[in-house]
Amino acid sequence: MTVQKIIIDTDPGQDDAVAILLALASPEIEVLGLTCVAGNVPLPLTVKNALTICELAGRSDLPVYAGCESPLERTLVTAEHVHGKTGLDGIALPEPTMPLAGGHAADFIIDTLRREPAGTVTLCPIGPLTNIAAAFRRAPDIVARVKRIVLMGGAYFEVGNITPAAEFNIYVDPEAADIVFRSGVPLVVMPLDVTHKVLTTRARIAAIAALGTPAAEAVASWTGFFERFDKEKYGSEGAPLHDPCVIAWLLKPELFEGREINVEIELEGTYTTGMTVADWWRVTDRAPNALFIRDVDADGFYALLTERLARL
Ligand code: RIB
Ligand code: CA
Repeated sequence: MTVQKIIIDTDPGQDDAVAILLALASPEIEVLGLTCVAGNVPLPLTVKNALTICELAGRSDLPVYAGCESPLERTLVTAEHVHGKTGLDGIALPEPTMPLAGGHAADFIIDTLRREPAGTVTLCPIGPLTNIAAAFRRAPDIVARVKRIVLMGGAYFEVGNITPAAEFNIYVDPEAADIVFRSGVPLVVMPLDVTHKVLTTRARIAAIAALGTPAAEAVASWTGFFERFDKEKYGSEGAPLHDPCVIAWLLKPELFEGREINVEIELEGTYTTGMTVADWWRVTDRAPNALFIRDVDADGFYALLTERLARL
């Protein structure tokens, strides 16, 4: 089995937490570290939540780094209305005791990419792209060393979730997203178009809860809290498990379908800033820069997630 080395850049967030647990439960993946970014909640909380998640998974050995506390150029926008005040509302977990790793997240990304053989580390951003862009700006030499970026962000057919045009991760830091989408690094993009097809349903969450482990209980509680927002807004049966799609693609890409297309980030639109302008129908001559995922085998996704959570 080829073990994939990854760095997860995250703004936990209940769905981030499920993604991190899925990665830590999967032997095909070696998580080199977690880098935290401001997004769903401010940086101090995303850091605390990342430490909490590591301890829940029994991984207090995993290095967790604090990164950027605000976007490259804009004022931070957060999403407590979705994730709650703590960012991990839904279950009360013990205060983390494991220490935060020293140094900035961007420097960890730089050092890791310079140390590991070129083309062997995958970056998995599941929050705003500020840390990734900061690392690329600080050390342009690392860009060519990245194997691939598999990110959650953007939307096209599904349109926006934080504005009518933009998805949250891209909207919070569109300048950072523009740097990443123009970097030339092979990109796999998990937009709302696909994440809105992996909804938590009562049966799916019951199967996870039935595992009877602390991690499974936390996932069931987090999704119970997290889904109220989407149920109210979209009238859907459950919540989209956005971020775990990134890890599931690494484990079973065959569950997903998409197209290599050009995706640009709108930086100046009065109403469309942060929009991922996806040339799905190839109506421009702009070069493809991303595998833009649109479809998923949702039952296969939940079977994978449930089977892996059982291992924690
Ligand atoms: O728009 C969904 C994304 O924004 C997810 O990554 C969620 O965790 C929030 O960060
Ligand atoms: Ca996230």
